[in-house]
Amino acid sequence: MSDLSRRNFLHGSALIGVSVAAAAMTPMAAKAAAPKTARSLKEVLAMSDVDIAKNSEVVQSAYDTIVNVAKKIHNSSLRSTVLSILENPNPTIAEGNESQILSSLKKENLIAQNAQKVFPAISDSKHSPQPFWSAPGSGYGSHHAYPGGLATHTALNVVSAQALYENYRHINNLELDWDDAVGGEILHDLHKPWVFQWEKNHSCRVEQPLAGAGEHHVLSVAESIKRGINPSFVVAQACAHEHPSSKQGEALVVGWLKAASIIAGVDPVKYGLLAADLKTIPLPRRMEGYVVHLADHDWVISSSACQWSVQALKDLAKEQYGIAEESAFNSFRNYVLANLTAMRLYGILSSQGRKAFAADVARVVKL
Ligand SMILES: [Fe+2]
Ligand SMILES: [Fe+2]
Repeated sequence: MSDLSRRNFLHGSALIGVSVAAAAMTPMAAKAAAPKTARSLKEVLAMSDVDIAKNSEVVQSAYDTIVNVAKKIHNSSLRSTVLSILENPNPTIAEGNESQILSSLKKENLIAQNAQKVFPAISDSKHSPQPFWSAPGSGYGSHHAYPGGLATHTALNVVSAQALYENYRHINNLELDWDDAVGGEILHDLHKPWVFQWEKNHSCRVEQPLAGAGEHHVLSVAESIKRGINPSFVVAQACAHEHPSSKQGEALVVGWLKAASIIAGVDPVKYGLLAADLKTIPLPRRMEGYVVHLADHDWVISSSACQWSVQALKDLAKEQYGIAEESAFNSFRNYVLANLTAMRLYGILSSQGRKAFAADVARVVKL
């Protein structure tokens, strides 16, 4: 065997090793494809959005995937912090003085001058308004917009981050920090259960902007700071929505870290989140944030897949299930997507057509 073919062979085995390991860790697809007991529409309409996520094997298996990866975090105190956030993503940052935080953010032009609040509603900052596993993956018109969508979104991202970490090691011999790259991905959307609370009509709360991003991003970064997570992890997490390779890109990341520091009540330079001139992240820029950023890119396909599946479900609901009212449609949609996922359904619709799409939906909601 020549050196080259041996290298190719070893490289191929390594990549196969990653995908087999990933497949073994994520039985989500198998759960979505497995035989189902279809519920009647009446039964579906009686379920809460949290019940829907609780009863979905797909969602629970996605959540297990995330927890199992979190258990591999090397640093024991970081591991227990990450696991406790997954167990109860309660907003400890909401204990800060909101009006002071609001005026500091306004002074730095990090929030709209007419903003009245920084935080979404919370009745008890010791308890998350809903479990991590029942939150949608994004706003109701965007990706993974169904109960448990945060779990299915994060599961794919975390498995992607692990694979990217391995691939950079195999291809470029890079020794990145696994805890920052994979851990940063696990927590990147940690405050979505708070931001995207379920509404009475079974859609979810509309997100507000903060420092040029959806508020979940800055609030999630602030929570990691408030809980004392190390700065290199927090900077990597902050890169989920943008990377610092261009001046404009880095300015956004810097703005998010500044806003998160104000919310968490820390000095970003002393904490190690920004360079002394407050213009860049600490130099030289580390590479773990790029793994977090790249692995968060499932939204590129999953936003459209969710929107197109919802449109097809709307037609089906009207034509075959006799659903016309918005709240009933939202429940139907939430149940179907939590059990089958928007990605699976759009995969069927795009490759096999409307009949096969309707047949898959009928596996979970009786016609
Ligand atoms: Fe995000
Ligand atoms: Fe995300």
